[in-house]
Amino acid sequence: MADFEPKIIAFCCQYCAYAAADLAGSMRLQYAPQVRIVRVLCTGRVDELWLLRAFENGADGVFVAGCLEGTCHFQQGNLRARKRVQYVKKLLDEVGVGGERLEMFFLSTAEGPRFAALADEMMAKIKELGPNPVRRKSEARGETGESG
Ligand code: FES
Repeated sequence: MADFEPKIIAFCCQYCAYAAADLAGSMRLQYAPQVRIVRVLCTGRVDELWLLRAFENGADGVFVAGCLEGTCHFQQGNLRARKRVQYVKKLLDEVGVGGERLEMFFLSTAEGPRFAALADEMMAKIKELGPNPVRRKSEARGETGESG
């Protein structure tokens, strides 16, 4: 397990979390390079299927990062996302993938250092949990989860 390099997908709201990730980059802060960011207009746009598909396609961990509570540009998008994340966490527990592989964070634009810290924390947690069991099965069947 020492050579395990987790794949982590981060769905980031463009107004806050993505800007925070951008700031982390501008500040030349180091964080886990395995975190792949998917920029979304608002976390309210991230639905349950996107989250499940990410795991199905081989992600070992996923996080959704949106605006601080009360600051979503679409009013309640981040609160809706939080509910969806809670729901999918339960589903992941039920199917044996583990709900702890999915998290939701709330950030402001100015929190570049916090974004980097959260990405690293997520990476450490997923390394400890090991590979996504769905990924192991699809790899055994010769599927890569990559498209194109
Ligand atoms: Fe950022 Fe809705 S606009 S979470």
